[in-house]
Amino acid sequence: MADLSIDFAGIKSPNPFWLASAPPTNTGEQIMRAFDAGWGGAVWKTLGEPVVDTSSRFGAIEVGGQRMVGFNNIELITDRPLEVNLREIREAKRRYPRHAVIVSLMVETQDDWRTIIQQVEDTGADALELNFGCPHGMCERGMGSAVGQEPEVLKTVAGWAVESASIPVLVKLTPNIGDILEPGVAAVEAGAHGLSLINTIKSITGVDLDRMVPYPVVGERSTNGGYCGPAVKPIALHMVAALARDPRVTIPISGIGGISTWRDAAEFIALGASSVQVCTAVMHRGFRIVEDLCDGLSHFLDSKGMRSVAELRGKALGAYVEWGDLDLSYKVSAHVDPAKCIGCELCLVACRDASVDAIHTGPVPLAAGHVAATRDQAIARAAGSGVHVTWVDETACTGCNLCSHLCPVPGCITMKDVTGGKPFESWNDRIAKGTHKAGHHG
Ligand SMILES: Cc1cc2nc3c(=O)[nH]c(=O)nc-3n(C[C@H](O)[C@H](O)[C@H](O)COP(=O)(O)O)c2cc1C
Repeated sequence: MADLSIDFAGIKSPNPFWLASAPPTNTGEQIMRAFDAGWGGAVWKTLGEPVVDTSSRFGAIEVGGQRMVGFNNIELITDRPLEVNLREIREAKRRYPRHAVIVSLMVETQDDWRTIIQQVEDTGADALELNFGCPHGMCERGMGSAVGQEPEVLKTVAGWAVESASIPVLVKLTPNIGDILEPGVAAVEAGAHGLSLINTIKSITGVDLDRMVPYPVVGERSTNGGYCGPAVKPIALHMVAALARDPRVTIPISGIGGISTWRDAAEFIALGASSVQVCTAVMHRGFRIVEDLCDGLSHFLDSKGMRSVAELRGKALGAYVEWGDLDLSYKVSAHVDPAKCIGCELCLVACRDASVDAIHTGPVPLAAGHVAATRDQAIARAAGSGVHVTWVDETACTGCNLCSHLCPVPGCITMKDVTGGKPFESWNDRIAKGTHKAGHHG
């Protein structure tokens, strides 16, 4: 069995699964129950000057009957007194010495940082996470993403924290920025010991068209909030990978954003994360999901012959290159399995209206050049039976793979490699050889 335990900048954790700073980490009682359920660590709900929250404060996107595919909140940091939180942190760490207790912080002045860091360190917590990411409410008060969006300010404030702390300091980044490398590198330069990302993405999930108020409705008004949940995973994955492959980023990364399954977690780790954090999936389904996360990751590592999480870390980073280094010789072509096709023609319409009109129905023409992979079966089935047959004209197909994404039948449309042994050639190779002029290509 693979070893799931990790050492993240000196923070020891029995597995890489941490609860993100959010409602599931609001109290010691919750965090201790989460540890009992199997979570390796938890980032305490952000401490600072206690706030007053609104009612309501969540919005959500449903897609095709699946609830909370995207989730939005206008919640602020903790609304509980600092002394109560500190007492509970001490208790949680005392009772769970082998689990990672990380405390998220957001305060204003250098003195405030020094004081609260001292108070948290006195509890025995393992590490600090600086919340420079909250995109609503706190940023209007000069904190949260107001710091995370200004690399120089981030560097100064993170520097204060690093200077005051004797335990590891993680900087949590906001995705509400043009280039994630700027705040990420600023955090490294400030001496941070780790990065966490992403916090939520500025958003409005929708509008109540009867009341003419955006969601979430607070009386007669609303405001922009922070987006998270499965919908944000691609954005988070990119940002984690962009940092992980940058040689200036020499500190470990805790990946956050839309993680619900072991596979999501494995993807973040393969793109450079050393631990992962989860919020929305736990708000949706509870602490118990960690059993599947641990089992799934453990079996996956075993199946790949990897003995530890560290062996998986960054495994897919080498394959993440700039567009100009992709192989332009590589070619795939769509193939429709006639035994699975239900004749809905979604692929045909999409290919005709949004691509190159390479998908057809009915008997396959025998004209030269129309050599569909399914031709023989298609002809046989279409001939006597009048069965609806969809086939791909391989000579016209550009291998964009739109059809394979929208086909409702799993495994019906697959992409076949038709490169035919052509040697690798990238755009940058062509520029180097002078076959193409440098400039815009997309
Ligand atoms: C209701 C709610 C409250 C949150 N509060 C905090 C917070 O206090 N501090 C913080 O750093 N992040 C906070 N977050 C952001 C999460 O920690 C996490 O970065 C984000 O939700 C993305 O992860 P997910 O897609 O797994 O939810 C909050 C998120 C939600 C949904």
